[in-house]
Amino acid sequence: MAGGPSGTAEGVSNASLVWAVIMSAFAAFGGILFGYDTGTIGGVIAMQDWLQTFGDYDPALNLGINGYYLKTSNKSLVVSILSAGTFFGALLAFPMGDMVGRKKGIVCSCVIFALGVGLQLDTKWSTFVVGRVIAGLGVGLVSCLVPMYQSECSPKNIRGLIVGLYQLAITIGALLAAIVLNATKDELSHSSWRTPISVQFAWAFILGGGMLLLPESPRYLLHKNRVGAARRALGRLTNRPADSPEVDAECTEITLTLEEERAVGTGSYADCFKNNELKAGLRTWTGIMLQGWQQLTGINFIFYYGTTFFQSAGISNPFIITVIADVVNTCMTIVGVQLIDRVGRRRLLLIGAAGMMVCEYIVAIVGVTAGQVAADGTVNLAAQRVLIAFVCFYIAFFATSWGPVAWVITGEIFPLNIRAKGMSLSVASNWLWNFGIGYATPYLVDTSTKGQPNGVATAALHVKVFFIWGSTCLGCLIFTYFFIPETKGLSLEQIDLLYKESSILNSEKYRREMIVANETHAHHEKPTESHDDSSEEAAKV
Ligand code: BGC
Repeated sequence: MAGGPSGTAEGVSNASLVWAVIMSAFAAFGGILFGYDTGTIGGVIAMQDWLQTFGDYDPALNLGINGYYLKTSNKSLVVSILSAGTFFGALLAFPMGDMVGRKKGIVCSCVIFALGVGLQLDTKWSTFVVGRVIAGLGVGLVSCLVPMYQSECSPKNIRGLIVGLYQLAITIGALLAAIVLNATKDELSHSSWRTPISVQFAWAFILGGGMLLLPESPRYLLHKNRVGAARRALGRLTNRPADSPEVDAECTEITLTLEEERAVGTGSYADCFKNNELKAGLRTWTGIMLQGWQQLTGINFIFYYGTTFFQSAGISNPFIITVIADVVNTCMTIVGVQLIDRVGRRRLLLIGAAGMMVCEYIVAIVGVTAGQVAADGTVNLAAQRVLIAFVCFYIAFFATSWGPVAWVITGEIFPLNIRAKGMSLSVASNWLWNFGIGYATPYLVDTSTKGQPNGVATAALHVKVFFIWGSTCLGCLIFTYFFIPETKGLSLEQIDLLYKESSILNSEKYRREMIVANETHAHHEKPTESHDDSSEEAAKV
């Protein structure tokens, strides 16, 4: 998977660039599906009609809206069950993408997802929950197959940008969810929540339909020894006749890479954890842990429970705050995507973790002091504003660092022979932590209802939970320092070399030396060769 179509030394032709952009725009719809789905539930469970339909009634508890509230256990279940589905979806992505292909795999995922969405329109609790699991399977499959398809079909020079587009689409999806939720939240009928849920049919239709029009990944076709079909696919992707010399050269290049891949090992799951000369085990664990730490930044606390949390903190229009949080996330992701190739992966992760840590500690400290809601229900407005501002700064730090960079690194640190499996395991880890955190959060944050009918004991941390997120960001910082090498401007082959011959702490120095050596070499040989994802190349396209 060193490259993809048009990944030859001649660079990218305009026609194939146009195709690459069209493809990534279509495939990035997977990100919209992902972001919109995860972004809807927090708002849906705060709606009056939804609570009346699925919640419990006890006006004495002073929870929820007009006496209707959702038990903590049900809240955990309905929010986190999607991530349980997505976890298995991500694990299924590898066999599915290999059996039916990347393209048809994405189309099937859309059908599964649409089925899950349909079930969530029912008013029965169990059907709603099953719908969440099935939609989750679809999202999990898409969250792995889309970047796999993108990286196999896009010219290698713009692969980094394309992965960035995918994260951008995730944030746009969440923003769209917040906007739709805000538009329907005051309706007192089922349409208040059925409308935002039904909008997801459109995403599934656009992604599934768009994929049907696109070619299959030539790399997948060559992997299956379907040489004729691979040539036709490559021809379509590069806008050239299937029997042209360029298509021929690219087919040969991909075939050679495949042979190289097979020679390194069978690429089994066991190979992913072997401590061989390629440091496969270290790299797989890095991917798995990186995705776990991304979730441990606490970002989804804001996106899943933000609306209900801000409500309980006495903020008058929590839906608007959620929209603001999503706007900050989307805008700052646009900034972040451009920083990756300039500032560097490792450095961005370190800055992002430190920034998030400071913001979260400030939110926690302000929250437990001036930000407390008084016994008579009054709130300190200035403290509330500080709280909101630092939540926004925190999101901005995430969006410019851990949001996109976690996906970029996941796509580039694996050796050729285990890349697809390594990606699937890492993405599954993201969803596992997503599930765990989504499930545990209400038990950590909510007011305890112990001693009441169906009551549960909780830690009732409220805003103090930000002390936990601040501390996990310290964990992110330490993890990055010891496990993430700087890979800015390196080709995938150079990243292999870096893992083989250098250490993480020495990676920055080794990286610079490699680039200098490469430039000196290129100067004497062919200029611009093997720059792969370098910032100069990325800037050119
Ligand atoms: C994370 C999601 C998160 C989103 C927020 C993604 O990179 O994996 O869990 O909700 O960013 O933008």
